[in-house]
Amino acid sequence: MLFDSHAHLNDERFDEDRDELIKSLKEKGVDLVLNVGADIESSIESIELSKKYDFIYASVGVHPHEVSSMNYESIETLKKLAQNEKVVAIGEIGLDYYYDNSPRELQKEWFIKQIELANELKLPIIIHDRDAHQDTFNIIKKYKSPDIGCVIHCFSGSVELAREYIKMNCYISIPGTVTFKNNRKTVEVAKEIPLEYLLIETDSPYMAPTPHRGKRNDPSFVQFVADKIAIEKGISYEKVCEVTKENAKKLFNIK
Ligand code: NI
Repeated sequence: MLFDSHAHLNDERFDEDRDELIKSLKEKGVDLVLNVGADIESSIESIELSKKYDFIYASVGVHPHEVSSMNYESIETLKKLAQNEKVVAIGEIGLDYYYDNSPRELQKEWFIKQIELANELKLPIIIHDRDAHQDTFNIIKKYKSPDIGCVIHCFSGSVELAREYIKMNCYISIPGTVTFKNNRKTVEVAKEIPLEYLLIETDSPYMAPTPHRGKRNDPSFVQFVADKIAIEKGISYEKVCEVTKENAKKLFNIK
């Protein structure tokens, strides 16, 4: 009944029990997972996971942290990887001015190139934006073709920014941080933005929600995100699960 729209099950923190964990997800209520690539290697690993498990889908892309490793062949490599039938999006791509692991000009350049690739392939994009709200928004507005979908993953902006994205038909993805005490901003977004524009995610193994904060996150914990949204909106948990799953299936064109 739940669709975790953003996980990294290829992460080494799952090396010890990956298969066991994945096999347990269905009985914990998770019936779809999108495993997201963050560089070429993890994009390939995502595809491998998606081939092994029917309910796991993959995205391919290079995270802003990793763009320094890109060269003229990288876009061709991503393009080839994207031909796989379980690849449903390009991402995660974007800007990260919090860590600044790559020079900002390089981040912007590869962000734009990967949006252009998504436009060409007609695949939706998964956006990473940390402390780079204005530049991220401007680039999406300028370069994203209107006929491809988009989700702002781990949304950390204001309700106003979320509304601007909705005008461009972008989805807003709510992560586990919505359960943290003192995170009024994300709670407001979850409350104010219509359910029809929300996705839910874990970003496993990072950012485990309360009551597992500080521990390894996994896709089954997406239930705590759904639960918090249901409480804030005053609607049923089942409704949140059902609508966010339909939203993600629509965005990623999953039948
Ligand atoms: Ni991620």
